[in-house]
Amino acid sequence: MASNPRILIAPSLLAADFTNLGQQVRDAAAAGADLIHVDIMDGHFVPAISFGPIVVDAIRRCTNLPLNIHLMVEEPDAILTQCIKKGGTDQVIVHAEACRHLHRTVFRIKELGAQAGAAINPGTPISAVEEVLPDLDLVLVMTVNPGFGGQSFIPGALDKVRRLARIIEAQGYRAQLEVDGGIKADHTAQDSVRAGASILVAGTAIFNPQETVDAAMTNLRQAVQGVRRTPVKGP
Ligand code: DX5
Ligand code: ZN
Repeated sequence: MASNPRILIAPSLLAADFTNLGQQVRDAAAAGADLIHVDIMDGHFVPAISFGPIVVDAIRRCTNLPLNIHLMVEEPDAILTQCIKKGGTDQVIVHAEACRHLHRTVFRIKELGAQAGAAINPGTPISAVEEVLPDLDLVLVMTVNPGFGGQSFIPGALDKVRRLARIIEAQGYRAQLEVDGGIKADHTAQDSVRAGASILVAGTAIFNPQETVDAAMTNLRQAVQGVRRTPVKGP
């Protein structure tokens, strides 16, 4: 049976008020965020451009929480040293679709002092990360096509979460399963946890004009409280 680790919530700053970024990071931390999700976009791997390593440094100065750094860039290797702080507790996630030598990049991330994650888009099979699964600290299953906040959750992605959860469980790997895109305080969060996710990224569900960050975090936390990860029997 799959173990039921604590569900970690990683607010995505992409939806934050950039005129007040430091305060938004502090609000998320005060509301009980476990990680701060940081989306770097280069305008090539995804159509949008967000921000780069200089802003990541600034974010780091606002919090002691580990950063969950999601690199949606065509050439992640080129910016790894700028994104990773030696001796830190951050996690760096590269997209399998962007890495010609995924195994090398994963080990480079660890060498530089971060935990290593690999992400797959909705159209990418789990086989794209399977060979490096024993080496990963986390696997990120995109539940929207990457590039923008506020998109609708793609339910079909859950089956990949389920299959990855089975493999991780059966093999005794340590990788955590993360979902990103369209996660709200409703069935999307619950279904993700049931399927085996233990890290939930949420952007617009946490940073929005309708409620405070604190209230939004509470809603999301409550939505998944008591939801059991699906028992699994092996791959
Ligand atoms: C999208 C980013 C997400 C984004 C999620 O490509 O990777 O992290 O901020 O936003 P929501 O939660 O609004 O879908
Ligand atoms: Zn992201």
